[in-house]
Amino acid sequence: MGIRQSKLLTLLLLCTHLSAFGGRYTPDWKSLDARPLPDWYDEAKFGIFIHWGAFSVPAFGSEWFWWNWQGAKNPAYLLFMAKNYPPGFTYAEFAPQFNAQFFDPNEWAEILEASGAKYVVLTSKHHEGFTNWGSPTSWNWNSVDNGPHRDIVGELAMAVRKKRSLHYGLYHSLYEWFNPLYLNDKKSGFKTQGFVYYKVMPELYDLVTRYKPELIWSDGDWEAPDTYWNSTQFLAWLYNDSPVKDTVVVNDRWGAGCYCKHGGYYNCADKYTPSELLNHKWEKCNSVDTLSWGYRRNMRLSDLMDLPTIIKDFVNTVAFGGNYLLNIGPTADGMIPDVFEERLREIGAWLKVNGEAIYATKPWRVQTENGTVPVWYTSKNTTVYAIFLSNPMQDSFQLFSPITSEKTVVTLLGSPQALKWTPLHSSGLTVLLPDLPVTPAGAWSLKLDGVA
Ligand SMILES: *[C@@H]1O[C@H](CO)[C@@H](O)[C@H](O)[C@H]1NC(C)=O
Ligand SMILES: *[C@@H]1O[C@H](CO)[C@@H](O)[C@H](O)[C@H]1NC(C)=O
Ligand SMILES: *[C@@H]1O[C@H](CO)[C@@H](O)[C@H](O)[C@H]1NC(C)=O
Repeated sequence: MGIRQSKLLTLLLLCTHLSAFGGRYTPDWKSLDARPLPDWYDEAKFGIFIHWGAFSVPAFGSEWFWWNWQGAKNPAYLLFMAKNYPPGFTYAEFAPQFNAQFFDPNEWAEILEASGAKYVVLTSKHHEGFTNWGSPTSWNWNSVDNGPHRDIVGELAMAVRKKRSLHYGLYHSLYEWFNPLYLNDKKSGFKTQGFVYYKVMPELYDLVTRYKPELIWSDGDWEAPDTYWNSTQFLAWLYNDSPVKDTVVVNDRWGAGCYCKHGGYYNCADKYTPSELLNHKWEKCNSVDTLSWGYRRNMRLSDLMDLPTIIKDFVNTVAFGGNYLLNIGPTADGMIPDVFEERLREIGAWLKVNGEAIYATKPWRVQTENGTVPVWYTSKNTTVYAIFLSNPMQDSFQLFSPITSEKTVVTLLGSPQALKWTPLHSSGLTVLLPDLPVTPAGAWSLKLDGVA
């Protein structure tokens, strides 16, 4: 190649690079899907999901209470209402009892930070349509004109942002079960867009410009195509011109058939758990209360994930390249139930010692193996972490996949001294474990420096 040609090529490459970098996203999936995910999200690994709304008042069954009662006419819900409320009681009458008397956003933020989470996702509006901020297009079905008479989204935003370690995100349901505008559009086979025009878009733009969320967790998309929701138009604005265009992260629920395919990171189905490495960033959401995302007054201890179960789910998720979004449901009076608070603080205590094996790691070439006990691997450059979730009860511990060299150093996170080890045949090693510190999480991490 002559000098001229190579100069031309350089120029051409530079132009493509510039146009990819400085260009604007167009409202189509090809363009939007090509946007690189802001780094903070993959590094964060752990977030807390909060389901709070008028559904926290009946606090029975789940956050789908209204639908189960009056949409599906589920007998258990009909009976619950007949037994406990006067005839003719409507769902709207629950809202004034959403009083948030003890809601102290700074207290919440302290608990959230103590969990070791790096982001928070609050329901700004669930499928019931009640908005946790003073949306001007909510016809008083919101937390400022009704219920607590407080700007929940704004108050929590302020408290969370005082904690430097936390990013603030908002869950937002596109559809609303019983909104007449939505039902009209649905009747037209989603040929009309009145609901999107008068409700969804004004509220999404309002949320972003007012509260500048760094994550939008979209949901309630599945009955209609993305073209009905105008999702790509909204996302193009979000990525090109919104106040959070450089940092915002979104998920994949933007219309029927979108999830696991389009958007930012993938949620796919609720509680999605892939067993192989995806070539796309993903997040698993799961709830401490296995039966509900919203608070249930009748939840039992046996319905909840215990700490070792949560840690195992979390570690498995991170080893396979996912983020873990763990949900709690506060009570209508604004308290994070003690049992949830305890789980969160215990996760935080485990992360204080083991966070190095979690935050900002990348999946390794092997995600999990059965050594002496099952282990999950994560990595940072030439450091590999092997996390194990059961005490092997013996001091000789075998790992089969890491390839050692003379430079290999093995330590147990939380204890300073290097451990003795010997190589196994072609790959792998036997580590001499010290006495393991007692931890309620029942999980420990070996750090292997200088392995391949
Ligand atoms: C959807 O986007 C199109 C194209 O920008 C626009 O003409 C239309 O008004 C939008 N509809 C709604 C409901 O926002
Ligand atoms: C480890 O063993 C368990 C139980 O025997 C099995 O279900 C699992 O698939 C094994 N995992 C690997 C990575 O071999
Ligand atoms: C580790 O790799 C990351 C990129 O993956 C790089 O930014 C960082 O400088 C590396 N750190 C070390 C200590 O090599």
